[in-house]
Amino acid sequence: MVAEVLEPPVQRTAAAAQTQAATYVRVRGLVKRFGNYTALGGVGIEVAEGDTLALLGPSGCGKTTTLRCIAGLETPDEGSIEIGGLPVFDSARRIDLMPEQRELGIVFQSYAVWPHMTVAENVGFPLKVRRMPKAEAASQTDEVLELVGLLPWRDSSAMLLSGGQQQRVALARALVHKPRLVLFDEPMSNLDAQLREQMRIELKLLQQRLNFTAIFVTHDQTEAFALARHVVVMNRGHIEAEGEPRGIFRRPATAFVARFFGYNVLPGKVQTVTDAGGGAHAVDIAVGDGLRLGGLYYGTAPLRAGAPAVLCVRKEQVGLTAPETAAGPRDSRQRVPAMLRASSFQGLHDEHVVIAGGIELRAIQPALEFEEGPVTMTLAREDCLIMPDALSVADQKDIA
Ligand SMILES: Nc1ncnc2c1ncn2[C@@H]1O[C@H](COP(=O)(O)OP(=O)(O)OP(=O)(O)O)[C@@H](O)[C@H]1O
Ligand SMILES: [Mg+2]
Repeated sequence: MVAEVLEPPVQRTAAAAQTQAATYVRVRGLVKRFGNYTALGGVGIEVAEGDTLALLGPSGCGKTTTLRCIAGLETPDEGSIEIGGLPVFDSARRIDLMPEQRELGIVFQSYAVWPHMTVAENVGFPLKVRRMPKAEAASQTDEVLELVGLLPWRDSSAMLLSGGQQQRVALARALVHKPRLVLFDEPMSNLDAQLREQMRIELKLLQQRLNFTAIFVTHDQTEAFALARHVVVMNRGHIEAEGEPRGIFRRPATAFVARFFGYNVLPGKVQTVTDAGGGAHAVDIAVGDGLRLGGLYYGTAPLRAGAPAVLCVRKEQVGLTAPETAAGPRDSRQRVPAMLRASSFQGLHDEHVVIAGGIELRAIQPALEFEEGPVTMTLAREDCLIMPDALSVADQKDIA
């Protein structure tokens, strides 16, 4: 389904057009309840003009609900939404514009291509609804068909297209009326891995050419990182973390985010805390069955000896070597006796399951030259991130 635009595009003032990277979408305090269930517990996001924001999070966290509220397909209970300087929803001021008044395009996971129409009829539909003169509509349709590589299929029945081509039709239909904002809800999850990668690149190029602002919903972190300059991680209707991709990936804000990004998360108890300079603290933590490990804490909330905490470390930062021998090589990495339980070939690397101190960890490495059994696990202190406790932002809000 595509939100059709019945009104002419909102006229932006010259001043607004000149301001580079001004905020184009501003969502504040969005609350959405379904009966007793709070699907959104006060979501706020901002997207700069021409930018892509990715909404990332596990199933049921409220990504689609957020998008549908922005599109006007769902009415929030509280909050406000501004698009291109125009308030489109405001619970306090009783503003609630119809979807067709919000000047945006939407691409959904289900292509919603009309099978009885040709490719050009599908794509040109939003222009027909807007009563654009036929010749102008045809040329605008051809222009966007060319952009998505579908011009040779313009007169084919949409029914005959492959999944990837149908997704392009949906994309072309969302772009044909030249919206300034395009919302994507997992648009690529029905495509195979190769096609997804290709579509990602094409989407970036299209955006550079057409200069629209985008909100892209996905539960695939690779997709979010590849497409967006700003990533928002949601959890149970709350924003858990946000920032530029590398930053939020390398230094996750909470244990929930770390786990969502595939970190090993080891619960434990803080032993000692010392200032490590540069805003960091060196923390010794007891984890599992008698393991004592060191890591770095970057948070500002006080962390004291005895407090529950977690140690988070990425799979590729867990080293595995042959079992320790007395004369074994030494470096500054922490060395822990462990058991290699299983290994699986994953193409570019192998993934290994190891048990250390009774805790299961995953390690990503090139193929190992040794078999399952005793190994030495190595961890650099600077790769081990310590966080105060296992609570997420969503947990804290729920408790409050
Ligand atoms: N119309 C509705 N009626 C009742 N509950 C709803 C409705 N729409 C969504 N919900 C609930 O709100 C929560 C958030 O749903 P939403 O579809 O936004 O999640 P999502 O993050 O898009 O998940 P997914 O990745 O599975 O698409 C879910 O628990 C869902 O069951
Ligand atoms: Mg969804």
